Amino acid sequence: MKNQKNIRKKNNKSNYIANKPGGRSGARLKDNRNPAKPAKPAPKPKKSKTAPKSDSPHTQTIQWFPGHMTKTKRQIERDLRLVDAVAEIIDARIPISSRNPDIAQLTAGKPRVILLNKCDMADRNATKKWVDHLSSEKIRAIPVDCKSGRGVDQFVPALSDLLSDRIAAYKAKGMLNPSMRVMIVGIPNVGKSTFINRISKKNKAQSADRPGVTRGNQWFTVSKGFEMLDTPGVLWPKFDDQTVGERLAFTGAIKDNIMDIELLAIRLLDLLKELKTPAFVERYDLSDDDLSLPSYELLSVIAKHRGMLISGGEADTERAAATVLDEFRAAKLGRITLEYPL
Ligand code: G4P
Repeated sequence: MKNQKNIRKKNNKSNYIANKPGGRSGARLKDNRNPAKPAKPAPKPKKSKTAPKSDSPHTQTIQWFPGHMTKTKRQIERDLRLVDAVAEIIDARIPISSRNPDIAQLTAGKPRVILLNKCDMADRNATKKWVDHLSSEKIRAIPVDCKSGRGVDQFVPALSDLLSDRIAAYKAKGMLNPSMRVMIVGIPNVGKSTFINRISKKNKAQSADRPGVTRGNQWFTVSKGFEMLDTPGVLWPKFDDQTVGERLAFTGAIKDNIMDIELLAIRLLDLLKELKTPAFVERYDLSDDDLSLPSYELLSVIAKHRGMLISGGEADTERAAATVLDEFRAAKLGRITLEYPL
């Protein structure tokens, strides 16, 4: 039965490959949380240099309906008046795609620190380039690995530095120990909770302690003189560029259950076979010939090399696709950054 299903899927895919080179797949994917409310058109994301360019004719239209964000945006706008700075957390593997353009727009004018999180999974060189690039745009960026805590200790000194003039001004006005307030923002899955848990330790304070602050907000004391406000809502990633959607899906920011994972894995393989990281090549025991195959065939080879077969000895490409995606997300295929600064 599974064999038949697999063959049918494969035939569909082959038809698609034969009939629609460069076209869109029939896989139209919906976020079933809020299908009735399509998102407003998002501003175009900044163009990025991708390393390397995909050569695949396979695409899938990721129809992503981010849901209703007006309430969250209003809350952020209101609470921004209460903070001195903004800390934006992004994914170091996709520093462009993991930024919601609304955040930059909403928080423009506030001093800002960017945390390039998950840098343990990103290419070191690329992360350094991002830090330099953002610094050239006068944005302080700190590479962090919130899972292990690496780099997190640079956060408070960076804030002190960023806000030194403001702190001095408060002191000049007679405030002995001014407390600086920072708002934490970021799309889901970039590691906000992990960061907050790591930095706040046991210093959580409830919003009830702060008159005028939106109910449900969380304040955290991170060190003497610094308090942080967790974002009062969820800002979904926004995109009208399918490449952005794909990159969010590769990293797991968009869940697998809304898309065809075989197509997604094929698109990822387009990139991986060009990058040829030693971890990728060795893990799946790939020869140069394997690496020159079209990605949908490469997926079959990976399935076979991993012993993922269905009855009849056919490659279980669905299982292989899930494995490739999981292993990419766990950085088992190497430390890989998918977006570089221009
Ligand atoms: P969010 O609040 O922004 O939605 O993100 P959250 O902290 O829940 O983190 C999302 C996932 O990313 C979690 O994995 C978390 O462990 C992982 N993560 C966060 N920061 C880092 C980091 O610097 N490096 C690495 N490698 N992973 C990080 P999960 O699998 O969803 O949960 P868990 O099983 O790890 O608890």
